Amino acid sequence: MKTYLVTGAAGFIGSNFVRQLLSEEPNVCVVAFDALTYAGNLENLADCLGHERLCFVRGNICDVDAVRGAMSDGADVIVNFAAESHVDRSILGCKEFLRTNVEGVQVLLDEARARKVGLFLQISTDEVYGSLGPTGLFTEETPLQPRSPYSASKAAADLLVAAYQHTFGMPAIITRCSNNYGPFQFPEKLIPLFITNLIEGRRVPVYGDGLNVRDWIHVADHCRGIRAAITGGRPGEVYNLGGNNEQTNMAITRLLLEALGKDDSSIQFVEDRLGHDRRYAIDAGKSARELGWKPCIDFKQGLAETVHWYRTNESWWRRIKTGEYLKYYEQQYGRAAANRRSAVSR
Ligand code: NAD
Ligand code: TYD
Repeated sequence: MKTYLVTGAAGFIGSNFVRQLLSEEPNVCVVAFDALTYAGNLENLADCLGHERLCFVRGNICDVDAVRGAMSDGADVIVNFAAESHVDRSILGCKEFLRTNVEGVQVLLDEARARKVGLFLQISTDEVYGSLGPTGLFTEETPLQPRSPYSASKAAADLLVAAYQHTFGMPAIITRCSNNYGPFQFPEKLIPLFITNLIEGRRVPVYGDGLNVRDWIHVADHCRGIRAAITGGRPGEVYNLGGNNEQTNMAITRLLLEALGKDDSSIQFVEDRLGHDRRYAIDAGKSARELGWKPCIDFKQGLAETVHWYRTNESWWRRIKTGEYLKYYEQQYGRAAANRRSAVSR
């Protein structure tokens, strides 16, 4: 039996990863670790909380004692999803981004090193490469040129991981994935924000001319790619993961309008994001060759299933929009635990 410490496990991708791991890998047990910031929602793991191979720990990756405690029974693999992840928030202020995305990674790396953890998997993003013109793709050799405070903090973490690998021989792998969509994504990101606004009869805010391009991948494909990197990747390497699926924001908007029976009057063009990266596109050839991984979920089908998920899980996102979801941890673990943990998180 292998033990995985999965940090950021109550977020969008982390919770999908934990669910996939428990259902597809019988010889893995999971310590799911999360600070439950505004983006963390224990309801994302509600169906896993009673699982015999899962233990949930509320804690902050910047807190050495909390991380040490979570590893007290040992950890064979650390998979780090914990991050401040929203570009717009990083433009409003990036202190928490540096704390979690850089300082938190330093804490995890030091504890991984002290405990001689077998593999440290850093979940990174294609945004560290910067922005592309109309042609070309990001490869693992593309220089890092982050252009938002969010991507700068993720690039800093990547460099720190590489430095620990070089200096201390830390067995570490970095995966850099493109934009994810799917169930349990926090409704501040493009696709869930637009789906939920349209269901509520509200308009959708398209930034600038709406022609920025992202490469969209279903979260389940991303999670399979991470698992392939853990089992087949070479320590010290970077693996790009992408959907081979470039779409403009307008194309996505029109697909969602159609799926939800709305027309162009639901579109509201708004001021562009500051420093808005124009185009991201991934060459995932190395992952295909070395890991035998390829995304397999068709975009139109995956998007239709995602729309269906948000339609049939209205109470999940409505509880987020009203703030009710913040009480779920307390309801599960009691007021005393909630108070103790929030004191630690502060
Ligand atoms: P998310 O915002 O949905 O989840 C982040 C999780 O981390 C939350 O549960 C939050 O509570 C937790 N967290 C934040 N700060 C913490 C801290 N200090 N200690 C412990 N937990 C903390 O983000 P996501 O979309 O699931 O992204 C997960 C990872 O994947 C991030 O590292 C992100 O950079 C990366 N990534 C995301 C995408 C995407 O499209 N969403 C694409 C590529 C890479
Ligand atoms: P987002 O989901 O925030 O991901 P990222 O910025 O990390 O790629 O945004 C995806 C694209 O959608 C990006 O080009 C910005 C755009 N966008 C809008 O046009 N309106 C919105 O309300 C949001 C959140 C994003």
